[in-house]
Amino acid sequence: MIEPMGNAGRFLVEAADRLGVRLYAATHKDVHEGYPQWLRAALAGVCATDLTDTPRALGDMDAFCRQHGLAGVAPCFELFTPLAALLADRLGLPGNDPRLARAARNKIEMGEAFAAAGIPAPRWAVAHDAAEAYRVARAQGLGRPLVVKPAEQGGSWGVSVVDGPDGSDAQHATGAPHGPEAPEVPEGLASAVAAARQFTHAHPHGLELDTRVLLQEYIPGGEYSCDTVVAGGVAYPLPVVAKDTTEGRYRIETGHTCPSGLPEPLVRTVQHLAARAALAVGVRNGIAHTEVKIPPGTETPYVIETGARLPGDNLCEVVEAATGVSEAVAHLQAVLGRLPDTVPSRTAAASIRFLLPERGGVLRRVSIPDLPGTHGEVHLAPGTPVPEPADSSCRIGHVVARAETADQARGLAERVAARSRVEMG
Ligand SMILES: Nc1ncnc2c1ncn2[C@@H]1O[C@H](COP(=O)(O)OP(=O)(O)OP(=O)(O)O)[C@@H](O)[C@H]1O
Ligand SMILES: [Mg+2]
Repeated sequence: MIEPMGNAGRFLVEAADRLGVRLYAATHKDVHEGYPQWLRAALAGVCATDLTDTPRALGDMDAFCRQHGLAGVAPCFELFTPLAALLADRLGLPGNDPRLARAARNKIEMGEAFAAAGIPAPRWAVAHDAAEAYRVARAQGLGRPLVVKPAEQGGSWGVSVVDGPDGSDAQHATGAPHGPEAPEVPEGLASAVAAARQFTHAHPHGLELDTRVLLQEYIPGGEYSCDTVVAGGVAYPLPVVAKDTTEGRYRIETGHTCPSGLPEPLVRTVQHLAARAALAVGVRNGIAHTEVKIPPGTETPYVIETGARLPGDNLCEVVEAATGVSEAVAHLQAVLGRLPDTVPSRTAAASIRFLLPERGGVLRRVSIPDLPGTHGEVHLAPGTPVPEPADSSCRIGHVVARAETADQARGLAERVAARSRVEMG
């Protein structure tokens, strides 16, 4: 596993246990020191290297894999999924296409890969600074609202939805940044570009990031995710999940529900498109997490993004509770060159809701009531500073509900979230 410290780590550990597979992690020494005890205990060994230095990491991991006779490489941390593809290729193990793999990490290369494969996706342009963003968004008619996001990041960090290149924020113009001829950049767009460019290195490994900014046409409508396992180049679709997010400038995921509530033909359309997106970014043996939006009154999903990794947000738990399919088991089977188990064994439902603060501050107290069919988890300890709700790092906890139908599961999870108490100081 190339950096299993994220949300999917615990599901991979459980899956490996069920499959009787030994797990080894490649990570940084200091990142490994911060691993929770359950993850340390689950590892048969650790390859300590510098994942931000590709030649060195490949050399270290190659030697480690050969020494331990490893049978597969599981990409985990999104930014290192191209590294996983390179390593599998070098070792002759089942993996993803190393020539396309960067498209699963970098949203500019992803846009190019989607265009090459004819995948419906938002129209987009690239900018290096606010003045260029203003110019290209207007010249290309990207419309309003306008989405501004980092080329490389996750968790909705640095993603803003603004009125448009020169929306109602225009009266707060910041002045001409590049001489008197340059157009004035509206404050709303200038601050969105600054937010998208704030990440020069990724936490916690210090990987250098592409600080170019992606400007995208806004796709209205319901949002869904659909994962795809690919084994030997053959795509096996997984269940479709409905996603809820905040409205307004910052889009933070507030919950997910499986099944999605979409009619069956549209479920198949989403699954087919998610599979095409996975193949377009070079996924050949492994899993991909794809997010789509469906404009109201249409049956045409647009792909917002795809990553060559398991989903976060406890989606592995939600999908398994609803359908009996373990995405983590399927992922490990695919990277080991086996046939993945993707056939649903039950028709139930599950929903997760996240507890978000109304504003930033210090967390004083949090309590999640215990209702039958639900379980809650608190992410932050009292005394922890909680950032403004601008991305997923502000989440305080979550509740998962299981029921017979999606509406029941969502309703139950919403009731528990509504009765939860979050006190901020
Ligand atoms: N072109 C778009 N049209 C409409 N909404 C969008 C668009 N791009 C992004 N969004 C909204 O912003 C959210 C975050 O964007 P995106 O998924 O690209 O960033 P991310 O940081 O990779 O997110 P995460 O890791 O949380 O999935 C999306 O889930 C969606 O709600
Ligand atoms: Mg996303």
